[in-house]
Amino acid sequence: MARVPDEPQRDVAANAIADWLRGAKATQLAKVFAELGIAEDIGNRTVALGALAEQYRMRPERLLRLLRGFVELNLLAEPEPERFTLTATGSLLRKGAPGSWREIVLLSAHEVALRSWERLEAGVRGGKGGFHEAYGASIFECLRGDAELAALYDDAMGRMTASIARCVAENYEFTGVGTVADIGGGDGTLIATILRHHPGLRGIVFDRTEDGKRYAPGATFVTGDFFAAVPGGADRYLLKWILHDWADEQAVAILSTIRAAMPEHARLLIIEQVLAEPGAPRDPELTDLNMLMLYGGRERTRAEFEELCTRAGLRIERALPLPGTTCGLLEAVR
Ligand SMILES: C[S@@+](CC[C@H](N)C(=O)[O-])C[C@H]1O[C@@H](n2cnc3c(N)ncnc32)[C@H](O)[C@@H]1O
Repeated sequence: MARVPDEPQRDVAANAIADWLRGAKATQLAKVFAELGIAEDIGNRTVALGALAEQYRMRPERLLRLLRGFVELNLLAEPEPERFTLTATGSLLRKGAPGSWREIVLLSAHEVALRSWERLEAGVRGGKGGFHEAYGASIFECLRGDAELAALYDDAMGRMTASIARCVAENYEFTGVGTVADIGGGDGTLIATILRHHPGLRGIVFDRTEDGKRYAPGATFVTGDFFAAVPGGADRYLLKWILHDWADEQAVAILSTIRAAMPEHARLLIIEQVLAEPGAPRDPELTDLNMLMLYGGRERTRAEFEELCTRAGLRIERALPLPGTTCGLLEAVR
């Protein structure tokens, strides 16, 4: 019987493993790239190794190895030996650039994220996830005592929210709506975007902090605890990336607080990743495990959101796709 050659298959399988292992190193490279500000320093120029070595006070032969690591990640190009330019990918780590990933990289590569993931097994075995295993408190309790990390957290959330916010503003019918309240609205990116698209609306951002006040000038900011009470009387309530931060019991508690504040005609728009069902829900970016590690939370299927809503006295009436994003919109009524 002819032997079926299995060598190429083995290569593909082994390459996949090598790729995963490279990921941890790539994360560190991307973090250092963002922290040094190389994208800002090179800009549109071609810059020689010597100039960068002087600027970063590094030995040129060592810096060269780092820069070539950036070239391997396609953050930089080396069109001539020891001279470097910024690539399109590298430009995405520029501070303040449209669509910048800089803050997202810095948060994903932050010690608190890495230490939470280091506790993967313990976090799966324990009830509260990796962050709690590592720090003995929730991420939100820790953010309260660390203004710098809290600012980075808000910036990263805002960056990740920007394109989803545009999609909500463009796809949801806000005609006839007076007031929209974003519960756990963070830096206000979602409300700011909706108000920009629908100038007649009034917006409220409700969050435990006012960290992000600067981003949504037209909105009212209210601080408070969504386990206790949220502003009443709005026509639409938004809940984006809140339920996935929490285990079922707390998620039901948050939904119940909102239900208590909702007028009869109001609607709640839940904006979350909605896992496919049935069988094997796909989650290629591993956000479900990320939620468990960082928050003790989870991603859910539509059926699971329906169950949470039912327990809180709400009913999901329809689902709206948010094309080009990782999220869907579930509209719930009392
Ligand atoms: C994952 S972020 C989502 C932020 C925003 N909705 C977005 O999608 O970009 C979770 C938000 O919940 C807020 N939060 C956490 N616990 C809270 C509480 N008990 N009461 C009110 N807000 C809270 C945090 O401050 C944070 O802004």
